Amino acid sequence: KNYMLRSFFIMLSKVKWAQKLIMGMGFARKMATRFVAGDKLSDAIEAIKGLNKIGIFATLDHLGENTTNETEAGKATQDVIEMVDAIDQSGIQSNISIKLSQIGYTLGIDLCTRNLKAILEYAQQKGIFVRIDMEDSTTTEETIRLCLEMRQSGFNRVGIVIQSYLYRSEDDIRKLCQSATPVRLCKGAYKEPEIVAFPKKSDVDENYDKLTSLLMDGEKSIGSPGGSDNGRTPPIPAIATHDEKRVDYAKSYADKIELSREAFEFQMLYGIRRDLQETLVKEGYHVRTYVPFGTQWYPYYMRRLAERPANLWFMVSNLFR
Ligand code: FDA
Repeated sequence: KNYMLRSFFIMLSKVKWAQKLIMGMGFARKMATRFVAGDKLSDAIEAIKGLNKIGIFATLDHLGENTTNETEAGKATQDVIEMVDAIDQSGIQSNISIKLSQIGYTLGIDLCTRNLKAILEYAQQKGIFVRIDMEDSTTTEETIRLCLEMRQSGFNRVGIVIQSYLYRSEDDIRKLCQSATPVRLCKGAYKEPEIVAFPKKSDVDENYDKLTSLLMDGEKSIGSPGGSDNGRTPPIPAIATHDEKRVDYAKSYADKIELSREAFEFQMLYGIRRDLQETLVKEGYHVRTYVPFGTQWYPYYMRRLAERPANLWFMVSNLFR
């Protein structure tokens, strides 16, 4: 049952008429704000100040994906550059997350590469790390290639996301560890066919723990440099999950190989398991919250509904209030 609902929401996330309909519903917008810091950059900066106050780092994301023309892609790029400036000027402990489809991936790799370079040049100058989010599996190969190309050409403040539901991820992580590329490990939020991804959740979880170990071994093997104190550059392993079993596994594996708490971080989404985020900080772990803002919340929100059908019942019950 959950599987069907999940597929349904992922499908809805791509349908234009559904987007129009749902974005027009006042209550849907209100429900979505649980996961979004606000419409404006300044809203997100304020939210991050609050997180920093209690010892949580952030990664700032301007919502938007699958940009359909060059002008929009250029505008999205300029917006990210402004975000880098805002972080620099406000002094918050945060870095940036972007999506390649936001800066022109679907319009051509040359355009996308040019925009990515413009962002990285600016971010490098300001000492702010840029995380390239991972989208669906048709983009995995090219996203990794582009990230590694950027690192080889001298941009060392860029990293990537790997999804434990993909069969290929173990090989990818081994390769990324060789170049000490920071990796955010997540389970994966898109709908993937069985030929590329584990269909069973238990297998995705098992693979998650295995990949956590590999990343931690990778950090350890280069002397556990960890991230920066100002919260802007992360360590190699970023364990991004709200699943307490995965979190517990990561803690115990770090203990086992004697990896210090500064040498990895946990990551969670804004609006989800804030209690767990705070507990981890109190225990002395590094935690980073993914803070999205902007008006393009629709596909992001649909993926959050797909992850947890209980969120849907919550939304529907509000409909009848
Ligand atoms: P799982 O889905 O098993 O959930 C475990 C528990 O977490 C649930 O029982 C519930 O308590 C809580 N929970 C999870 N999702 C919830 C929700 N939507 N609402 C309320 N509670 C919820 N994916 C991707 O494909 N590319 C990417 O770049 C990223 N980036 C990213 C960054 C960060 C910081 C995080 C935390 C996640 C991502 N993801 C992602 C999303 C990721 O792939 C995955 O879909 C979600 O994190 C949900 O999976 P969990 O690991 O939390 O486990």
